Amino acid sequence: MLKVTHLDLYYGAAQALKSVSMEAGPGQITCVLGRNGVGKTSLMRAIVGQQSIRSGQIALDGTDIGTEAPYRRARRGIGFVPQGREIFPLLSVRENLMTGYAPLRRADMSIPDHVFDLFPVLRTMLGRRGGDLSGGQQQQLAIGRALVARPRLLVLDEPTEGIQPSIIKDIGRAIRYLKEEAGLAILLVEQYLDFCRELADRVYIMDRGRIVFSGVGADLDDPAVQKFLTV
Ligand SMILES: Nc1ncnc2c1ncn2[C@@H]1O[C@H](COP(=O)(O)OP(=O)(O)O)[C@@H](O)[C@H]1O
Ligand SMILES: [Mg+2]
Repeated sequence: MLKVTHLDLYYGAAQALKSVSMEAGPGQITCVLGRNGVGKTSLMRAIVGQQSIRSGQIALDGTDIGTEAPYRRARRGIGFVPQGREIFPLLSVRENLMTGYAPLRRADMSIPDHVFDLFPVLRTMLGRRGGDLSGGQQQQLAIGRALVARPRLLVLDEPTEGIQPSIIKDIGRAIRYLKEEAGLAILLVEQYLDFCRELADRVYIMDRGRIVFSGVGADLDDPAVQKFLTV
């Protein structure tokens, strides 16, 4: 579904991505791991169209989308849950979910039931301000907002960052459901190894702007792999 080939990305003179190639398939969870500052967020932002690339291809079902605006990529079925969640603190939960309508045609503007099945707390808090929610609830809201546009590829950047264990479990369950029952392609950036080991069909490890390893979840126990992850 998603195929990234030889991607280069610069911030001014600094190269943040160096010939990055990777893939994510439907019904699979693909994890991207690596220490802080290695380029994980840059890669996700490049894929969803929030950061422009210098060279390389980003293909969705064989079509090169690497120069398309973010809303066009959203229309093609790419959903994004950004690092830090970026929900609107002064808007209600309902209004935050409705911001997910942006790429949709009017007839498609509704909140899918499975958003509330996966995260029941959102239904009970529809009228509350986003800023009044706990960090974990805000993360659930950010995932719910991305699901509103009914993506085929869901990109999540560190969804467990700073979140309590019980909600991490809920999020893990939701991601597994979206993979198994809805057949989504899930692309997941994580620092939390156990979460990845449990969920991932495939893992990539980044170091200093490059993909330095590609394998399966069980490989994460290999000392040769761990050297890229320990500080
Ligand atoms: N908007 C930006 N402008 C300049 N440099 C940036 C910007 N965003 C990230 N960087 C730099 O690019 C590198 C990769 O950052 P990032 O993709 O956020 O890494 P990660 O998500 O793995 O922590 C870092 O050196 C970071 O400082
Ligand atoms: Mg990041």
